[in-house]
Amino acid sequence: MAINKNPTSVSLGSDDKAVFGKNLGFAASEAYRLLRTNLMFSLPTDAEHKCRVIGLTSANAGEGKSTTALNLAYMLAEAHQQTILVEADMRLPTISKRLGLKQSPGLSNVLVGLTSKVIAQPSGIEDLLKVISSGDIPPNPSELLGSAKMKTLIDVLSKNADFIVLDLPPINEVADALVVSQFVDGMLMIVRQGYASRHAVIEAMKQLEHANAKVLGFVVTGSENFVKGKYKYKKYGKYGKYGKYGKYGHSHSYGYAQAVAEENSGQVDIEL
Ligand SMILES: Nc1ncnc2c1ncn2[C@@H]1O[C@H](COP(=O)(O)OP(=O)(O)OP(=O)(O)O)[C@@H](O)[C@H]1O
Ligand SMILES: [Mg+2]
Repeated sequence: MAINKNPTSVSLGSDDKAVFGKNLGFAASEAYRLLRTNLMFSLPTDAEHKCRVIGLTSANAGEGKSTTALNLAYMLAEAHQQTILVEADMRLPTISKRLGLKQSPGLSNVLVGLTSKVIAQPSGIEDLLKVISSGDIPPNPSELLGSAKMKTLIDVLSKNADFIVLDLPPINEVADALVVSQFVDGMLMIVRQGYASRHAVIEAMKQLEHANAKVLGFVVTGSENFVKGKYKYKKYGKYGKYGKYGKYGHSHSYGYAQAVAEENSGQVDIEL
């Protein structure tokens, strides 16, 4: 497991979910640019292996994975990299909501075989950034993410992008990030300062090691403005309780997926 010992520290100085992309302050933008640079150096490209696939995870819930994934993907696109951000946290998807995009049809619909077309929606925040939303919430995200279909999807997407950024659930809660780690070039561990315990991070790292994952490095989120107790972290207790999630019975059909593709300009349909 290759680990970059110098973490990139990113502090938004606010827990405002509306702060991303062009709305970021100067210091936060620079921190995300530094993360982009570090990442590009950690994963140099060659002619044979052009697209780089990165998974973002953390030990616990609420450490800043989705925010980091969104801003990192934005910064990569800003640097003229064709980037696909995948909302691969199918349990608590937040990216499509933040960007005002349709949540479904999306990743889960493709993985269960309801459609063979993946819809990469324009992000609306940067031309080269496209987003694949989570789709309808499935009862078995780990199984879907570890499936051969997920591998095929990543291979196909790789032909259409320079970077693929996967926003994943936390390691100590569910197996999703571990099963996906076998399909990516490297994982980034997001660690919230003053929140993630040493024990929890070590536990997560052990699990990644056990799964043979390549950990590219750490991103430390939060700041002195963002102290423990000021912000209530939501519990991941919701995870795994299938009853809370929508049933698959109402999933959209293939026909619907196609219709949506035709309506929205700028959308890219990728055939599996
Ligand atoms: N670098 C940062 N500095 C300060 N606040 C941050 C930072 N990154 C994220 N946040 C804030 O922390 C909260 C949780 O962020 P986010 O939803 O990205 O975490 P997550 O790890 O994806 O959570 P979940 O496990 O629920 O998916 C949000 O309110 C977000 O604005
Ligand atoms: Mg998230």
